[in-house]
Amino acid sequence: MSFDTASAVAARRADLLLTGGTVMTPNGAERIDVACANGRIVALGDLRLDWSAESTLDITGLHVLPGVIDSQVHFREPGLTHKEDLESGTRGAVLGGVTSVFEMPNTHPLTLWQADLQAKLDAARGRAWCDYAFYIGGSAVNAEQLDSLENLPGCAGVKVFMGSSFGDLLADEDEVLRRILRHGRRRLAVHAEDEARLRERKALVEASGDVRQHHHWRDVKSALRATQRIIGLAAETGRRLHVLHVTTADEIALLAQHKRRVTVEVTPHHLTMHAPDCYERLGSFAQMNPPVREKHHQDALWQAIRDGVVDVIGSDHAPHTREEKARPYPQSPSGMTGVQTLLPLLLDHVNAGRLSLQRLVDLTSAGPARIFGIEGKGRIALGFDADLTLVDLAAQRCIRNDWIASRSGWTPYDGMAITGWPIHTVVRGQVVVRDEELQGTPRGQTSRFLEAPVLA
Ligand code: DOR
Repeated sequence: MSFDTASAVAARRADLLLTGGTVMTPNGAERIDVACANGRIVALGDLRLDWSAESTLDITGLHVLPGVIDSQVHFREPGLTHKEDLESGTRGAVLGGVTSVFEMPNTHPLTLWQADLQAKLDAARGRAWCDYAFYIGGSAVNAEQLDSLENLPGCAGVKVFMGSSFGDLLADEDEVLRRILRHGRRRLAVHAEDEARLRERKALVEASGDVRQHHHWRDVKSALRATQRIIGLAAETGRRLHVLHVTTADEIALLAQHKRRVTVEVTPHHLTMHAPDCYERLGSFAQMNPPVREKHHQDALWQAIRDGVVDVIGSDHAPHTREEKARPYPQSPSGMTGVQTLLPLLLDHVNAGRLSLQRLVDLTSAGPARIFGIEGKGRIALGFDADLTLVDLAAQRCIRNDWIASRSGWTPYDGMAITGWPIHTVVRGQVVVRDEELQGTPRGQTSRFLEAPVLA
């Protein structure tokens, strides 16, 4: 039987007790036990003598991270469920150590209205393995309604595509962007590629049919110009921004000067792969928007992590089937799976000395919770949701396509050796992955948000 939180504390009785691990708390790494009851963290410390539990997990040798929050995934439901759905997408998430996701609005239909959001919330109930929230797409047709839409329960915020990518969502004109920015207070998430420039340059790849031209078509200027425009418009309208999947050294230099209002996401793809090598090896399977670029851009993204310019690492999990990806470029759709490999790749980067574990926690748990105002998540502390990602930093594994839960069934990292791996995943006190195996039934819930403060 599960106690309510106060009775559990009074009786020193937990639903789940994790003993012997190294726990990443706001104090750093601590050798403490964690007691969970009623979905929350109810005690931290040396608990073995005083506490009893319904279930105890000896996690000696493992590190406990606050549950990983992936604030950019495309799970394709409704409308494109041959690529992914909410069950398979969230299953991949928890197998990869992710406990919450924010899902993107470029589904069929697009997520533009309350009814679209409600349809996703209804579809997720009883089928999602982790917690979730959904972005509303910002466009000319719903701009004036966004201030009420963004506050609906289960809404992660508003997402704008300034350049067309996959699907029909687009807001590329300054006047439309102004209308969107003026209607709402939450941080606006933006895909920053300049549509006019993409259109001008599309002939380049249509003529060559060569995927090695992808990052020349969608070039540095396309990204920089859009990022400059949206930063200017956000300053004019007094709005906060979140620039998704930043890819260029040039944007990083600009964004570093606007940290008061603007937060920054990078993806593991852009931190791990680079051009031209990725296109030589993977062809259109390495094709994504904004593109994977040359090594000096990747180096700038790592430097931006060290400098504190990057706030969040999100996967931009964007599955397409192998058949779709194998179409001749540029008919091949952009996007790759990523939710399940986000944490393994980052743990491997930790082992290679590129990232500290403390910084990883900041970028994948505390960062998303802070910038999106997620209630009760992102930290291992009393009263917070018992969302926990337990990892073995020394485990050696190989990423394989057959490990990938996505309906699309592939990863660009097939065959890659990794050091560091998620072993158990706990969502609000439920062990949903134990010893790398899925457990029980989907119990994901809608994430809750704090009210957005007014920007002074
Ligand atoms: O490569 C991408 N694929 N970038 C996006 O912005 C959209 C995504 C998708 O939905 O496939």
